[in-house]
Amino acid sequence: MARPKHELMRADIALDRSSGIPLDRQIADGIIKAIVNGALRPGDNLMPIRRIASALGVARATVDAAYALLVAEGYIKTARSRGSFVSVDLPARAQPPICEKKNAAQKPVSRYRALLANAMQELLPQKNVPLAIVGTSPEANPGKEFAAILQRVNRRSMLDMVYSHPSGLDALKAEICRIASRLRGVRARPEQVIVTSGSQLGLTMTLLGLFNAGDAVLFEDPGYPLLHGTAELCGLKPIFTPIDAEGLNLKAGLSMAPDARGVYLTPSHQCPLGMMMSLKRRHEVLRWACESGAWIIEDDYDSELRYGGNLPYPSLQGMDTGENVIYVGTFSKVLFPGLRLGYLIVPEQLVDLFSGLRLLIDRQGQELYQAAVAQYIHEGFYEPHIKHMRQIFEARRTYLLAACRREFGDWGEFSSGEQGMHVVFRFHNQDIDDAALQRLCLEQGVETRHLSSFYHNHPPQKGLVLGFGFYTESQILSAVSRIGYVLRHDFSAWGPQESARQEP
Ligand SMILES: Cc1ncc(COP(=O)(O)O)c(C=O)c1O
Repeated sequence: MARPKHELMRADIALDRSSGIPLDRQIADGIIKAIVNGALRPGDNLMPIRRIASALGVARATVDAAYALLVAEGYIKTARSRGSFVSVDLPARAQPPICEKKNAAQKPVSRYRALLANAMQELLPQKNVPLAIVGTSPEANPGKEFAAILQRVNRRSMLDMVYSHPSGLDALKAEICRIASRLRGVRARPEQVIVTSGSQLGLTMTLLGLFNAGDAVLFEDPGYPLLHGTAELCGLKPIFTPIDAEGLNLKAGLSMAPDARGVYLTPSHQCPLGMMMSLKRRHEVLRWACESGAWIIEDDYDSELRYGGNLPYPSLQGMDTGENVIYVGTFSKVLFPGLRLGYLIVPEQLVDLFSGLRLLIDRQGQELYQAAVAQYIHEGFYEPHIKHMRQIFEARRTYLLAACRREFGDWGEFSSGEQGMHVVFRFHNQDIDDAALQRLCLEQGVETRHLSSFYHNHPPQKGLVLGFGFYTESQILSAVSRIGYVLRHDFSAWGPQESARQEP
């Protein structure tokens, strides 16, 4: 006796017109369900389109489209002689599962699971709202010139973009070499440039390329949190080294690890405290590297932006007379972070090593963006853009400092140097919970970073790290007054006497 297939199919196809899922997809899914649970078997004929359409109250074209989906996905076939029927070779998804037991949760994965889960808790980027440190804004971005170049490059170069050298496009390497030498005093030839996907990849490559698992490497404390996790991932023994007014205290680091194999530094603008490494310390660290064979990783992330009429301080790489420094640069700050373009400038003897690393890690970079940035620099837009950013950022920085001083200046003081994209406000009362303060500010729509989150082993300083460059004066004013409100409303016990008395 013929099976009442159409009854089964109707039972499986419950259309939900409010779900937002197209009706043809819903019909196809209903039929797939009937196939998977065995109600329709390989070879079974399907109801004619006309009947199914009238049974479901939909247009014939909708059922037509559903059947077309099922044909494309391999669930059904059609033949002139017999209409539509269930495929004999069903796709794997329609077969009964090989194993009922689902134990993915217990399957062993790498020992870094907790570290990586923690990174997703603690290290996600800030939202693009005031006063996030890095962002984009209509006034301070590479703008229409970059967009036009990108379009042009896109049209012209698609056919040229094949597998290429892992170290990056020659045109971009030449331009990077030129600007790094002009703006940062770097001494190198274009061959020494390795283009990376932002400095994060560049920094990871330095840790993998220069050291072996178990090696002691000095890291700044407080320092760049994203790199602390990476050091652990690379199996290194990070030696968290204190920062004082002159920058990283090398002697203190070496007293903890006399055999340290290298050091990571932000010498032009310490992240996050903002000081420049003193000349004495620069010489000390360069001499140590030269004598001991240790490596210096110089992260020069935002020093193009120096204010007060001062030129950026030259890079450590430019002062090096040996081949001890690996210079790490990025376009995330002066162009935009989503570009994911950065670079290493490495000693000549390491060019093959770092090219090989890039090849094995992710083969090569995205050439479209490399070509566009090379052209943007080549056509002379890059340096005027930086000058323009510097002017806007300096005015906004001054505005932010004045607004904060008015709003909550008696709670602490600013301590950062005159450059970059952030300022640090350190509280007089160091018992304040700056992590809770950051959370409450975010509830008010204001991004900050609590200073203590940059510390690893050393007693954390409590404060707020504030960005300013991507926001208008009125956005800055409103954000600062909301921080002031949170301080007075939720933290009055840690504030100055006057603020406590002003509370209702
Ligand atoms: C110290 C430091 N280095 C580098 C970067 C830039 O990272 P990337 O080039 O991966 O975007 C940042 C960005 O916040 C930073 O703070």
